[in-house]
Amino acid sequence: MCGIVGYIGNNAIKNTITGLKNLEYRGYDSSGIAYIKNNKVIIKKEVGRIDNLLTNLDYDNSVNIAIAHTRWATHGEANKTNAHPHKVGKITLVHNGIIENYEKLKEDLTDYSLISDTDTEVIAALIDKLYNKYSDMKLVLSKVTNLLKGSYALAIINDDIKDKMFAIRKDSPLIVGYDNKSTIIASDIPAILHVTKKYYLLNNYDILEISSNKLNIYDKDLNKIVKEENTYDADSTTISKDGYEHYMLKEINEEPDIFKNILDKYIINDKIVDIYDISKYENIEIVACGSATHAGLIGKYYIENLASIKTSVYYASEYRYQKHIYNQKTLVIVISQSGETADTKEALKIANEANLDTLAIVNVYKSSIARLAKNVIYTHAKIEVAVATTKAYMAQCLILLLLALKVNPDKTIINELHNIPNIMKKYIKKDYKEIASVISNYDHIFYLGRLVDYYLALEGSLKLKEISYIHSEAYPAGELKHGTISLMDNNVLVIAIVTDNKIKDKTISNIKEITARGAKVIAITNDNREFSDYKVLIEDNILIPFITIIPMQLIAYEVAKIKKCDIDKPRNLAKSVTVE
Ligand code: F6R
Repeated sequence: MCGIVGYIGNNAIKNTITGLKNLEYRGYDSSGIAYIKNNKVIIKKEVGRIDNLLTNLDYDNSVNIAIAHTRWATHGEANKTNAHPHKVGKITLVHNGIIENYEKLKEDLTDYSLISDTDTEVIAALIDKLYNKYSDMKLVLSKVTNLLKGSYALAIINDDIKDKMFAIRKDSPLIVGYDNKSTIIASDIPAILHVTKKYYLLNNYDILEISSNKLNIYDKDLNKIVKEENTYDADSTTISKDGYEHYMLKEINEEPDIFKNILDKYIINDKIVDIYDISKYENIEIVACGSATHAGLIGKYYIENLASIKTSVYYASEYRYQKHIYNQKTLVIVISQSGETADTKEALKIANEANLDTLAIVNVYKSSIARLAKNVIYTHAKIEVAVATTKAYMAQCLILLLLALKVNPDKTIINELHNIPNIMKKYIKKDYKEIASVISNYDHIFYLGRLVDYYLALEGSLKLKEISYIHSEAYPAGELKHGTISLMDNNVLVIAIVTDNKIKDKTISNIKEITARGAKVIAITNDNREFSDYKVLIEDNILIPFITIIPMQLIAYEVAKIKKCDIDKPRNLAKSVTVE
């Protein structure tokens, strides 16, 4: 969480802010910028969205060095004092990450009177103290990497060295982009594309020394290192709304094309090609967080039904701490849009350390998880900006289905896959406002389903609650009568997913039990019978989960719109969850 940018070159304030705006998805409870003007470090900070910072910002185009930050609070509430940049002595810096031993470090910094509640200010004081002793920033930063425990990406300026910027990282992402005239460092690629598409990935403990015409990268022993150059291969328009009111809506509209692109990549002449072969494994463990876990459950459904391989799905935050009973025929699959989720990354390390085969299904190219896993499949969903995932979730589900189809290339399913993009388009065009208006009147909602319908319910419910702030829970329909049915009354709305032909009659019986107790029911279903108060009818299809998800995402979107929520940046959230 949090996003950092640093820039050296022409028009630094404007270029830094453009980068920062493209990182706002990483956290948006306060933001700040520091730049050097007339030999002085100037710091501006504001609480709330980056737009608040911009209101009175002086875009002096003669400034050529700036660092900036958008925050998702960890240590200390979101206020101006805790916002970054932090300046202590000669050192001004911005930080993405968490310093676990900051309290201990603070005990040795009693000469400093620190004013914020943050761990970051402690780093600034530590660097200042060491700089006063050694007067050599590179040496200081190599020492700092030994002292800090936790994760950090830091962009640093020093009052004594006004023509340079420094940076270090460990376990928080940081890339460096450059062209002939300027250098930009940032937490993620969208923040550099207005300057350049050429960039270097940085490793843990890399130390950067940047001046306007020179970029030096050192390892922690201060040996100079040469990096492999990367070029971002999509154009920067992928991070515009393209006329849509919200990124979320744009991204839902992209789903049919993304689906088709994935098929074009992995299905040639009706054969599944170039995808990891899972047939040799006896067990698969899928590990992820949030929506990626829900995609993992859809994957479990397909892998077990098509490939007959026992598959279990775990929350990464728990997987890390539980006992593992592996055999060497276990494959661990981690799923992550950002490729930076801290819990997922740590779970992956556990599987790597147990010498298991690991496979990452990731959207962000060469992200930490993509680089850590022994094998990687990219979801090719392009940059996803809305905090609530839609297209990346769908792409994750499709990749998992393709893994299963590689083992069991079911002809009917492979043929039908090609029809799905057009069917999706049909459901994207439909109007869900009326159903959304019903939902918007409730404070408590249950999403119900059985098996794959329950897995979809989990995702539908998460989508609704995270962007509309309506309390919503997903529950296995058959479990209701074992306790939770006591909550059913006319204050509750139930959204039932009823699409699995094998089991839907059972869910319909559960719905009757619910309506008998006064709760209203919306059915999202392929069944023409009358069993609910409202209905979103979906055509039957062997791949119905890929159709059902579209109305569910759009319903959540429309409800959030009615409730005037900040759809692309829901409160308290951030897109890349790099804290544990
Ligand atoms: C919900 C959502 C989150 C993410 C979760 C994992 O809409 O986006 O639940 O799915 O934080 O993130 P990644 O996939 O980046 O590891």
